[in-house]
This record gives sequence, structure tokens and C-alpha cells, in this order.
Amino acid sequence: MGSTITLHNLAKTYPNGQKAVRRLSMTVADGEFLVLLGPSGCGKSTLLRMIAGLETISGGELHLDGKMANDLQPSERDIAMIFQSFALYPSMTTAQNIGFPLAVQKQDHDRVNARVHSVAQTLGISHLLDQIPGRLSGGERQRVAMGRAVVRRPSVFLMDEPLSSLDARLRARLRTEMLAITRSTGATTVYVTHDQAEAMALGDRVAVMRDGVLQQIDTPRSLYALPANAFVGTPRNNLLHGTVHAPVDGVMALSSGAQKITLSYPLTHDHQMLRVVQGQPLLIGLRPEAIRIADRTHATVFERAMTGIVEHTEFQGHEALLHLSLGGQRADVPDQLADHAPHAPARRSAAAFVRRLRHRTGLLGRRLPHPGNTQPPAQPPARKDIGELVIRDSPGARHRRGQHIPLLIDVRNLLVFDERGERVSPDPTRVPDL
Ligand SMILES: Nc1ncnc2c1ncn2[C@@H]1O[C@H](COP(=O)(O)OP(=O)(O)OP(=O)(O)O)[C@@H](O)[C@H]1O
Ligand SMILES: [Mg+2]
Repeated sequence: MGSTITLHNLAKTYPNGQKAVRRLSMTVADGEFLVLLGPSGCGKSTLLRMIAGLETISGGELHLDGKMANDLQPSERDIAMIFQSFALYPSMTTAQNIGFPLAVQKQDHDRVNARVHSVAQTLGISHLLDQIPGRLSGGERQRVAMGRAVVRRPSVFLMDEPLSSLDARLRARLRTEMLAITRSTGATTVYVTHDQAEAMALGDRVAVMRDGVLQQIDTPRSLYALPANAFVGTPRNNLLHGTVHAPVDGVMALSSGAQKITLSYPLTHDHQMLRVVQGQPLLIGLRPEAIRIADRTHATVFERAMTGIVEHTEFQGHEALLHLSLGGQRADVPDQLADHAPHAPARRSAAAFVRRLRHRTGLLGRRLPHPGNTQPPAQPPARKDIGELVIRDSPGARHRRGQHIPLLIDVRNLLVFDERGERVSPDPTRVPDL
């Protein structure tokens, strides 16, 4: 059985004044596998440690199964935490290490023994039960640590980058096993990582954090399709500075550097959203699947031509990634947006957007200062940042550096963010239903 974990405006300010977590609210459902994703220093470990009771809470409330838990001792919470650096007792065997939490509870010796053997079998380490940690590999030691965490069947697992010290193959394997174990016990899991691919692969939902602020919490599919802002939705390097131009004969166009793409006519619902940000500096996200190299097949009515210049190819075996220069300006996230990040949860910023939209619908066509935005626009990127696009290419293709490549961009697949990084299109008021 799992537990429900509810955070109400949870906050942590360290004694030195460092605000590590800011008024964070979310609910992790009973039995859910939630991944906490964010860059180094954004407050992931702090949040996890507050849930575990290893760190005091500066503000807000933590509820476990509906009961106030702010002041509960770690031992009073039915939680097991697994860290990146796991401390096993060096003089104890694998069996003693795994059985330790039960031995402390003074459980019957035979029952402990049976449970230890069952856990070891699940983790594939039965043959190592008599070994001491010093004789084990990193991956084996991590399995023992996991065994010690699962042995008493806690209702919550908190895992802080538990696999990051392992090599890629072992990590992938243990990841799957870990998911299976937490599922089989029905425990609620909060798993911390800064690896986006890992987050997408594991999470029932993913909570994205930045500078102590929750940016968005959603299923991996919704996060990908409808990112709340440019920070959540940065598709590799494909984020460009651009502008939407006033319609000419009813046709709207988007430009980035020297490249211009017209939007299809009549405008789709999502492209209608762009009318309110006409003339303003924007960030345009192009996902790899929105771009293809033009070949003999005809372009669809939604595809527009662009030209890229080959910078270099990244060979990855099953595919290659082609880095192209567009002669435009690439926008860097998060650094470029660091001072303009919406320090508010996604839902609130979407609501704010709707207010701005309503406020402005009657004022289309007239250029107005951005209400509520007193920040100066992002600095233009340095010369070395001149627009770069990464697209998928077949591994057999051989493209020379400097070669001009004709591209087709599917305009239905654009992500457009305003200068503060908030999503403007697709429709930011749309409720994810994926
Ligand atoms: N004991 C502490 N005293 C003061 N500041 C701290 C303390 N622990 C962490 N911090 C600061 O709080 C912020 C959040 O730290 P935290 O360890 O939660 O980040 P994180 O997201 O887990 O990062 P990483 O991915 O590198 O582990 C950081 O700026 C960090 O420097
Ligand atoms: Mg950490």
C-alpha cells in the first residue's frame, strides 16, 4: 500500500538565507511514481529531505495520507529514502545489511531471514548474501541498498538520483527493476533526477522545478505536447528568437533572423493565439519531428521551406543528429531566461495569460507595452550563438560542413513562447488531456 503525499505552499529557507524551495504545492497520489526533474541546485534534494523529515520545513504544510506531518520524526513516517551515495555497513554481509531495518524492529529471526531471501531473489543478489560491501561492485552495492529500503515494505519511497553513479547499461536495467519493485509493493514513489530522458521514461507524472519553483506537473506526454514555458519545453537546442508580423492580406508570418515562414490560411486556432504578441520578441521552439530534410516527396500544405547550413553531424548509431546553422539567433534556455522566469506555478501563469489575453483582445493591431512586464527584454545572444538547429538524419547520410540543406518545417508543430518564456501557442488555456 502507498500513501498520499500533499504539499501546501511548502517552503525552505536555509539559515544562510538561501531560498531552496518556494511555496510549492502538489499532490502525489497513492501508488504513483512521480519524477522530480530540474537542474542542479533547483531544490530537488531539499524537497525530498523535507518529505522524509531530514530537513526542517520553513513554511507551508506537509500531509501524509491527509495527516499533518510537518513535525513528525523520520521514524514516525513510513518512508524509505535511497540516496545517490548509499552507506552500507562495511562490516556486515549483504544479508545483514538488507535485514538491518527488520532486526532493529526486533522481528523474529526466521521471518527476517525469509524476507531477506525473498528481497535478494527479486533483486538478483541471492548469490551475494554472504559478501561484505567491500567485495561488491557499485551496481551490486546499489542493489543491496535498494534491498535494505524495500525490505520493510514502506508506503513511500524517496529516491534521490539513486542510479547516477552507475554506467548507462546498468542504470537502464536497474531503473526497470526498481520501477517493477515499487509497482509490486504499491508504494508511492518520488524519484529525483536531472536527466530528462530518465524522467520521461519512468514517471507516471513529472514535476519540473527551477530555482525552487514548481514549473509544471503533468504526464510525460502532456509536458512534451503542452509545455507551460520555454524552460519546460526546450526541445534540444531548437529555440530561436523570432517575431510575428502583422498580417498582410490576411496572411501572417513568423520570422527568425533572415528566415521567414508564413502561417497557413485560414489561421488555425493555435496560430490565432499569436495575434496578441504580434511585433514582440518571441521564442520559437522547433521540435525535431517538426522539421524534415526536403526530398522528392511533396511538401504538405502545412510545410514551409527553410534552409540550414551544416555545422556538424553527431553520429548515434541508429540515427544521426545534424547540427545546422539557420543564420538566425538561437535563444539559450535557461541562461538567457534566467532573469525572466515566471516565478509562479504553471497554472497561475496560464491564468495570468488569459487575463492579459482578455485585456488585449479589443486592442489588437495597436502596439501596447507588455502589461505587467517591467523586465527588459532578453539580451541578444553573443555571436557564437547564431541560430543552431538540431534535426534527425539517417545514420547513412553524409553531409559536408557548410553544405546548404533544404528543410521543411511543419507549422502545426511550432511552440511559441513570449519574451518571458511563457507559452503563447499552442493555446496556453488548453487543458492537457493526453
Ligand atoms: N544546508 C544548506 N545550507 C544552505 N544552502 C543549502 C543547503 N543545502 C542546499 N543548499 C542550497 O539550496 C539550493 C538547493 O539545493 P538542493 O541540494 O536541494 O538542490 P538539488 O536540486 O538537489 O541539486 P543537485 O541536482 O545538484 O543535487 C542550492 O542552491 C544549494 O546550494
Ligand atoms: Mg540533489
